[in-house]
Amino acid sequence: MVKIKLGILISGNGSNMQAIANSCQNCGILADIATVAVVISNNPQAKGLQWAEKQGLATAVVDHKSFALATNPRLEFEQKLYQILQQYSVDLVCLAGFMRLLTPFFVNAWYDRLINIHPSLLPDFKGANAVSDAFLAKVKIVGCTTHFVREQMDSGPIILQQSLVVNEDDTLESLKTRILALEHQIYPQTIKIICNKILQN
Ligand code: GRF
Repeated sequence: MVKIKLGILISGNGSNMQAIANSCQNCGILADIATVAVVISNNPQAKGLQWAEKQGLATAVVDHKSFALATNPRLEFEQKLYQILQQYSVDLVCLAGFMRLLTPFFVNAWYDRLINIHPSLLPDFKGANAVSDAFLAKVKIVGCTTHFVREQMDSGPIILQQSLVVNEDDTLESLKTRILALEHQIYPQTIKIICNKILQN
């Protein structure tokens, strides 16, 4: 059976990348439908890279800092990402803790083939400090969201959301851990939905 080729973009720990890659293995929910074609990091020190290499996954580093002197640093950085994704014949790009804002060039090149996960119930708490913002706001229900990527940060059509009730004794750290565990469930589920859609077309 034809499998959808995933390109996963990371910047750090890559725990969502691990959840996705594990779901593509043997009995995982993506085993029949998707495969990880390449993991790309903009951060050469990303912990997730080491894990991916150990698993025998194809990896690449595109360090955004190395484009600092380019005429158009953002564009040239994204063109390099694009080139590698094409090289691996990627069908679907999954942002998994990728900490770079993407320009219209990249977003439009992968329109409806570019998805992200965010640790809040969007549209609430956009941005890089979503969990701490929610914690400080003392909201009672938090969660995570998967969505298609559009030009505006943390916007774009929502695919799945999962919520949880904040406990009296939750700390910021415990909330981060609980939300991340939910992310590891909904990201593979999301990819399954999108892969099925791609295969039906
Ligand atoms: C996750 O909370 C994700 O929602 C956000 O960045 C974090 C990445 O974590 N975009 P990891 O690198 O997947 O462990």
